[in-house]
Amino acid sequence: MQITQTGAVTTCAIDIATEGHDHWFLLQSDNHHDHPTCNRQLELEHLEEARQRHAQVFIFGDLFDGMQGRFDPRRSYNELRPEYRRDDYYDFLVKDFTDFFRPFVNNLAMISDGNHELAVLKAANTNLTDRLVDRLRLAGSHVVHGGYGGWVRFMFHRDGKPFNGIRLKFFHGAGGEAPVTRGAIQTNRQAVYLPDADIVVNGHSHNSYHIPISRERLSGKGRQFFDIQHHIRTPGYKQSYGDGSAGWDVTRGGPPKPIGACWLNLRVVQNSRSDHEQADQIKIIVIPAIQGADVVTIGGDLYQGVEFGEDDRMD
Ligand SMILES: [Fe+2]
Repeated sequence: MQITQTGAVTTCAIDIATEGHDHWFLLQSDNHHDHPTCNRQLELEHLEEARQRHAQVFIFGDLFDGMQGRFDPRRSYNELRPEYRRDDYYDFLVKDFTDFFRPFVNNLAMISDGNHELAVLKAANTNLTDRLVDRLRLAGSHVVHGGYGGWVRFMFHRDGKPFNGIRLKFFHGAGGEAPVTRGAIQTNRQAVYLPDADIVVNGHSHNSYHIPISRERLSGKGRQFFDIQHHIRTPGYKQSYGDGSAGWDVTRGGPPKPIGACWLNLRVVQNSRSDHEQADQIKIIVIPAIQGADVVTIGGDLYQGVEFGEDDRMD
């Protein structure tokens, strides 16, 4: 796969002659890898599986938690892993993440910004995503740095020419967590203003869904057909509900959230319909990889730690 970027649009060129017909992708967001409640076991399990499947990995924001900088009002000792209690906190995060991802350099395709990375940029004038991507590229990865939102085009080539493509819109996420609908309403808004997307991926709220929206279409040649726009939200690996006894998520009345990511399989299939305009189609297969969080204890004593307003710290 060859990756190029033009503005907000990242193009992944796939040559089916050399790379085959079956392509796996792991869609992650909200790893919050440095947070004490990150389920690193599941995170690692998914990355190992990606390596075995020769999957390309996309991480759509909040890979870093990064809230423990000296001047960050959100900092809390309960949420700082012991190995990160250092003066070079931000520098060390980048080094530590590089070591963690080094075995997967050939699988990483994109790491994009979330609100946690942008909060660090605002507070400390450094972009952790950009620095990590730089280091991973030095280690041989073709990974690119994505924005808070953007497009990924999977362009399938045969004999050097593109014959079909899949368009994925990603947006880290915004707004409240919608405890009743779990963000499903957002899919209707996005379906309206993103008519060209085959797949729409969000993170941010740590909720999870896969909502297929069927659409009636009419081709340029007057052929009627139905397609599916896949809306995916990935929850990530942070288990901030803990055991339900303490912490920011609990004291504000937040519910427990699932953890995990989403597999995407793009398969080139021979089209037998003679009236079809394109010879081969790309089949989109979406497989959420979700489970319940572990029960984890946040900090030591009950009710300790700082409480923050909604605006201070949105996941
Ligand atoms: Fe997050």
